[in-house]
Amino acid sequence: MKKQVLSCIQPTGDMHFGNYFGAVKNWVDLQDLYECRYGVVDYHAMTMPYNPKKLRENTWELIINLLATGILPENLFIQSLVPEHVELGWIFNCFASFGQVSRMTQFKDKSAQSEATSESFISVGLFDYPVLMAADILIYRADFVPVGKDQDQHLELARNIAQRFNNQVGAAYFVLPETLHTETPNIRSTADPSRKMSKSAGEKHYINVFADEARIRKQIKSAVTDANNTRAGRGSSGMSEGVANLFELLKACGKLPAHKTLMAAYTAGTLKYVDLKEAVAGALVEVSAVFKEKKAELNANKKEVKDRIKASSAEIRKRAQETLRDVKELAGLVNVRF
Ligand code: TRP
Repeated sequence: MKKQVLSCIQPTGDMHFGNYFGAVKNWVDLQDLYECRYGVVDYHAMTMPYNPKKLRENTWELIINLLATGILPENLFIQSLVPEHVELGWIFNCFASFGQVSRMTQFKDKSAQSEATSESFISVGLFDYPVLMAADILIYRADFVPVGKDQDQHLELARNIAQRFNNQVGAAYFVLPETLHTETPNIRSTADPSRKMSKSAGEKHYINVFADEARIRKQIKSAVTDANNTRAGRGSSGMSEGVANLFELLKACGKLPAHKTLMAAYTAGTLKYVDLKEAVAGALVEVSAVFKEKKAELNANKKEVKDRIKASSAEIRKRAQETLRDVKELAGLVNVRF
């Protein structure tokens, strides 16, 4: 039997090339190897102060973006359409150590962030976020969870919850999920290659996967190399982070022959950065064009797309219901038959 893969993503804003090459492309590829389920976690998106008028819109937008970039509809679900996640989350609250949850660094970072805003509001949901995340994973009895290293602590918590549950009920019910760390390209901001490409740093620090051709070209044209920025720093090879990032983007786009030629020129000291930028911009525009076409198609059939994802969520929900029925039975709760 195929191993089970589960991962989730929060519905916040645009998808940029850092998200795509760093995570989504890996998800797409894993679909050939494993039984994959990918969730858009709108319950998680409520843990920080948010705009209720925009949440549902962002959720559907992300669904369309994921479909446009190659996630199969049958593997995609919306968390709030599988409310069992929340019920299992409550049960898990009673198997999660308060001390351990208190030590989560993402909570510390995000609550500090929240505290810095004018609202200065920290919800209990933000604190409880990793317990709901454990439910997301364990409800599908996932073997592997493809996430970044920043989520290791959350995965550790999920395993501890699973273990404590198994011990308490005297059954080896949950498999202990493992992170799946795949080597993915580390894409930096083209405006400041010392930082990751990310949305939170501001507009010039990320390139939207669905951006206009002109905008992509302009952003790459103004990318920091080393001639015009000393903050960019230099790696061990002597190559600046900005130049290395452009090479990384070229490779991520699958342009290996061009990569090889340009790298040889770099080594020989004859590379003109305009040529490298030209190649990178062209490669990104090509990738983007395919996605934009797919997105336009999906947007033209929005109603069908929504119905399709509601149906796949209902299908995926069946496995979640099965788990919850088992868990309630084992935990001594009164069960209903589905
Ligand atoms: N916490 C994850 C992040 O910030 C998102 C997430 C929520 C998740 N539930 C999950 C990831 C379950 C993997 C599995 O990126």
